[in-house]
Amino acid sequence: MRTSAVIPAAPARREAARPDSGRLDSARLDAARLGSARLSTGRLEALAGFYAANLTLRPRFTKGSRWARLVLAGPDHEAWLLAWLPGQGTELHDHGGVARPAAAAVAVVSGRLTEFTVTPGDFPGLHRKALAAGDVSAVDDRTVHGMRNDSGAPAVSLHVYSPGLEAMRTYLLDETGLAPSRIKRAGEDW
Ligand SMILES: [Fe+2]
Repeated sequence: MRTSAVIPAAPARREAARPDSGRLDSARLDAARLGSARLSTGRLEALAGFYAANLTLRPRFTKGSRWARLVLAGPDHEAWLLAWLPGQGTELHDHGGVARPAAAAVAVVSGRLTEFTVTPGDFPGLHRKALAAGDVSAVDDRTVHGMRNDSGAPAVSLHVYSPGLEAMRTYLLDETGLAPSRIKRAGEDW
């Protein structure tokens, strides 16, 4: 089992988050139970902000590839904590390809990150967005994007996916267009 719940369960959809609701929930949920239900990007943004604000796990910073840890798995979403040293980033990717695409939201816990989103069309380009601590950004299940720490300081981010993230398909973007490259399994090939 690859799950470990180190952040509290999110409040019910209509329940307001309370300051004292950030206690560690020791319940372990099996990622294999994740279904195909998708939460809206608005709900994902709210969850990412809630989890980021109530985080109890201290991230680690590792040279080479960025550090990533699955911190919560529920029936319709899961949350990952990522730590980025300066210069660390992802390739352009989607969240599951055609088999089980996931929508996502990322909340920056600390530091600064840059998100690159592919603008679709006959001549796709990249839209660049700067994200600072407290910012939340969402993508739907068809978006191809990438993230990188272009700052000079470490950064931490909390990512929520719905349904859970099984794999990412990476892409190459050049003057000929956007082309799929590889499939990476979540948490294993990152
Ligand atoms: Fe992503």
